[in-house]
Amino acid sequence: MKTHDTTDLSRRDLLELTGMAVILGALPLTAGIATAAEGQKLRIGIIGSGHVGSALGGVWARAGNQVMFSSRDLDNDKKLAAEVGPNARAGTPQQAAAFGQVLLFAVPYSAFPGLMQSLGSSLEGKVVINASNPFPQRDGEIASRASEQGAGRFDAQMLRGAYVVRAFNAVPAAEMASAHEDPGKIGMPIAGDRRAIGLASRLIREIGFEPVVVGGLDMAKYLVPGTPLSGEHSPDEVRSIAATLKP
Ligand SMILES: NC(=O)c1ccc[n+]([C@@H]2O[C@H](COP(=O)([O-])OP(=O)(O)OC[C@H]3O[C@@H](n4cnc5c(N)ncnc54)[C@H](OP(=O)(O)O)[C@@H]3O)[C@@H](O)[C@H]2O)c1
Repeated sequence: MKTHDTTDLSRRDLLELTGMAVILGALPLTAGIATAAEGQKLRIGIIGSGHVGSALGGVWARAGNQVMFSSRDLDNDKKLAAEVGPNARAGTPQQAAAFGQVLLFAVPYSAFPGLMQSLGSSLEGKVVINASNPFPQRDGEIASRASEQGAGRFDAQMLRGAYVVRAFNAVPAAEMASAHEDPGKIGMPIAGDRRAIGLASRLIREIGFEPVVVGGLDMAKYLVPGTPLSGEHSPDEVRSIAATLKP
């Protein structure tokens, strides 16, 4: 089996594992990573509660998970949590990181250096879904470096101690809130650490998308806007496009 590093699988392996994840709902997870029996709801920390964070936090909470919204504006997050309902609460990014078994990052990429300093070791052992995109024009030098190295590999170095997957990077936030109305119609490409794929896939499916694992961290560069995988595609279309891409 060709591997790219200890945390990556080859693309073929992951495409095969997607099928297993579909059947099992969650892949076996290494000790130290959040585990949850099938059907058991999760605690999700949302770091960045704008278009993406509020959309995903809202549907995950309505699906029965416990969600904590965070940003630099706690008052706004309290209002958001009140609108979403009893499964939602608000906190600081540090509180959300401590709260979540799974963390969603949905911030401008330029926010990461400061966030990493303030979050310290609290990402240790957490499954992180990073929806944030590196746009050099918007986010500056850190985004240039992430784009050059590939967002997945850069994320894994930056989000130390976490099991990182990238997903939700190139579909509009409004679609994230409404996919559950027609479950399974839209394929959601996901790429990253094999130990996080099962739990992340489960959360993706829970809100109406069909997760399609396109590879390990080195394939995550294809999930950003402007690549063939971006936009709305059926699960089969995502699989066909992914099969043409090389790490
Ligand atoms: N919009 C989309 O349709 C879409 C789709 C896919 C992916 N994305 C990507 O997802 C990310 C978020 O996009 P968005 O549209 O949701 O942006 P947004 O509406 O501007 O929301 C960004 C959120 O991050 C928070 N934030 C900013 N700096 C922060 C910091 N230092 N610490 C904590 N929170 C911080 C903001 O709140 P405060 O400023 O109050 O802290 C806000 O809640 C971006 O990287 C974007 O490229 C967007």
